[in-house]
Amino acid sequence: MMFLYLSGTPPSLAKGFEEKCGWRMVKPIGKVFPDGEQYLRLSEAVANDLAVIQSLYPEQDRKIIELYLALEAINGSESRVKFLILPYIAYARQDKRFLRGEPISTRAIYQNLKLFGVDTIVTIDIHSIQSLISLGFKVYNILPHAYMLSSINEKIDLVLAPDRGALSRAMEVAKTFNIPYDYMDKFRDRVTGEIRIDRKELNVAGMSVAIVDDIISTGGTMAKATQALYNAGANRVIAVVSHFLMLPTAIDVLSSTNISKLVTANTILMPTDLPKWIHVIDVSSLICNEISGWVSH
Ligand code: R5P
Repeated sequence: MMFLYLSGTPPSLAKGFEEKCGWRMVKPIGKVFPDGEQYLRLSEAVANDLAVIQSLYPEQDRKIIELYLALEAINGSESRVKFLILPYIAYARQDKRFLRGEPISTRAIYQNLKLFGVDTIVTIDIHSIQSLISLGFKVYNILPHAYMLSSINEKIDLVLAPDRGALSRAMEVAKTFNIPYDYMDKFRDRVTGEIRIDRKELNVAGMSVAIVDDIISTGGTMAKATQALYNAGANRVIAVVSHFLMLPTAIDVLSSTNISKLVTANTILMPTDLPKWIHVIDVSSLICNEISGWVSH
């Protein structure tokens, strides 16, 4: 498979596609005009069937524009997009009108991908798969938590979702490792953003507990959940999260809870000088193996 590499994609992921999956990378020529607008040109003839890869964080808006420029360039060539691989999908959490007058951001941004012949989107752990399915896309949503947990040396006694919405992730991990699962009760004030995790009866004394979630942004959810578990007597708490957005305070907030480990995927660009308790797992093989499975069926 030939893949078009756009600037949001972490180099470690692209390297994995080349070395572990045997895919061939092509890079477009890109530059920024003096007024700040982006320019892009396909630098070589691209294959008929092409995977386009872009991760939409950080600088979400620029990455989205770069993606649209690339898709239009492909549309004007003989090639077609077989898969659009978006390891991290920005604006995915605003998938409903929570308050009157709000936009559905997923609809505003992604429905126009159809104009460029995109019909299949591959992603890692989108916040709500339904938000893209309802726009008419075929969506392959890969949950990486079990894969990431099996890549580290950790014996887990219980897997927990920090809220009901994350329960399917906890169930998937629990099934893979044959361990019990549960969820916590989280409430977020839609106006202030403040999070509360209610203590419910959690029998976690002496246990190693994995908390699985899609995103760590401010770190508030994971920190509150970790504290609640330590207060209830947990021995170790391991956060297993698909996308760690690296907001400046998130590392401090999490570090102050004494969390044992944070395991996350290389879906977005990460600095290399992270604290030792943060483990970044390359998910390139997971993605290409899943894709080969679908293609061969
Ligand atoms: C919310 O429903 C998501 O699944 C995450 O729990 C949330 O986005 C994490 O955000 P933060 O780190 O800011 O609490």
